[in-house]
Amino acid sequence: MSETPAAPVKVKFFSGEDIPLELHKVRIVQKLYLRPVDERLKAMQAAGFNTFQLSTLDVFLDMLTDSGTNAMSDNQVSSMLRADDAYAGSQSFARMEAAVREVFGTQYVIPVHQGRAAENVISRAFIKQGDVIPMNYHFTTTKAHMEISGGKIFEIYTDEALKIKSSFPFKGNMDINKLKALIKEHGAARIPFIRLEASTNLIGGQPFSIANMREVRKVADQHAIMVLMDASLIGENAYFIKQREAKFKNASIKDILLTMCGLVDMIYFSSRKVSSTRGGGICTNKKDLFLKVRDLVVLFEGFVTYGGMSVREIEALAVGMYETTDETVISQSPSFIAYLVNELDKQGIPVVTPAGALGCHLDAMGFLPHVPQKEYPAGALATALFIISGIRGMERGTISSVRDDQGNDILADVELLRLAFPRRVFTLSQTKFALDRLTWLYKNRELVGGLKFVDEPTVLRFFMGRLAPTSNWPDRLVKQFKKDFGNSL
Ligand SMILES: Cc1ncc(COP(=O)(O)O)c(C=O)c1O
Repeated sequence: MSETPAAPVKVKFFSGEDIPLELHKVRIVQKLYLRPVDERLKAMQAAGFNTFQLSTLDVFLDMLTDSGTNAMSDNQVSSMLRADDAYAGSQSFARMEAAVREVFGTQYVIPVHQGRAAENVISRAFIKQGDVIPMNYHFTTTKAHMEISGGKIFEIYTDEALKIKSSFPFKGNMDINKLKALIKEHGAARIPFIRLEASTNLIGGQPFSIANMREVRKVADQHAIMVLMDASLIGENAYFIKQREAKFKNASIKDILLTMCGLVDMIYFSSRKVSSTRGGGICTNKKDLFLKVRDLVVLFEGFVTYGGMSVREIEALAVGMYETTDETVISQSPSFIAYLVNELDKQGIPVVTPAGALGCHLDAMGFLPHVPQKEYPAGALATALFIISGIRGMERGTISSVRDDQGNDILADVELLRLAFPRRVFTLSQTKFALDRLTWLYKNRELVGGLKFVDEPTVLRFFMGRLAPTSNWPDRLVKQFKKDFGNSL
């Protein structure tokens, strides 16, 4: 019997309950700490009200990100033992190359140490001062690298993309008319490439369709513009295509992945996401494009057969690449996200719908309408949730944005608190705990106030910045928590 069962992977319960089922067993575990609420408050104060600054010793459920935190499979871990340590010509790289060729269908494969390293190399190779880069939506590190290289980013999403409540299946689609207008306005010569991001991270892990990719391809071909895909979350995007795009209902994930990759000229990925390990890669079928990035990889990352990665990670990447074609693997995170999103939605708690990839995205402006956007509602919600539950989420709103030339915050399009579901990490009872605490927090939402920066780095400020509450609202929140939960953690 094949190791990879044919779809569908959805399991029906006789009871009629609509809950996700773990299609794996737990063989290695890590102890978690659920600290008392006073300690959680102290930890948050010490972290400068920035969840990036927390120690994992103080975190119960680490829902900050899925980057580098997906559970590895037994096959991935065991593959690391056969790693071939060599500066050049390593067999570990040969296995990675073979895996990427089979799964993405690309001839040329270069490893890099993580996704943003690929962004650095690609930006340096293709972007000139004053260039214009259309994309379905930016990612933080993408924007930083492309702007440092002199590019200007244009996000040309559809009208549905930023609606919090929607049933539109492909909020990650590009608006083709806006794309055509942008090319007309700036001219194809100033556009080094069009970037498509699979399972668009910052708008709630929302996928694009193959139909939309085909339209983008057509426009790109008319103007001889290269198409670049950020494939960090391509597995989940392929899963949603199978679920939501009628034409691909019976297609295998493998075929969907090959179809997607066949529609672009160059692909890059963070392997911390797509293949549940560390590292990343750049791949293409075009020799001229390959040569443009190859020499920069040697300069910035390492020799082309390791690119800044350890050979052990390269082995795990290769196995993880094959596992991306397994629907039981790539459906796991979306099915848990869908469970949490749908349960929150049923209670009227503002959350991005339809459920997407990567995490459950709470709408902080809907959750905390009394906190002005300039007081960072998504950051405040992340702070409050950690204090009352030990759950660490990530702010994806104005704190993750930048300031304009006058020093004013550029307010984010949406203020989201992302609760990431790394693949095969959390159980259903942990998910129910998150649901329970979010329900309590929503009932007590008027206790939550805003935040302000007290120490603000100029680049990617959300990582290392320190903030403070605009009043003593965290103390009031703790007081109410103790009243309702007594000595319970
Ligand atoms: C869509 C996307 N692109 C690029 C990156 C950057 O990858 P890395 O964190 O490996 O540098 C990320 C990371 O989360 C991502 O989500």
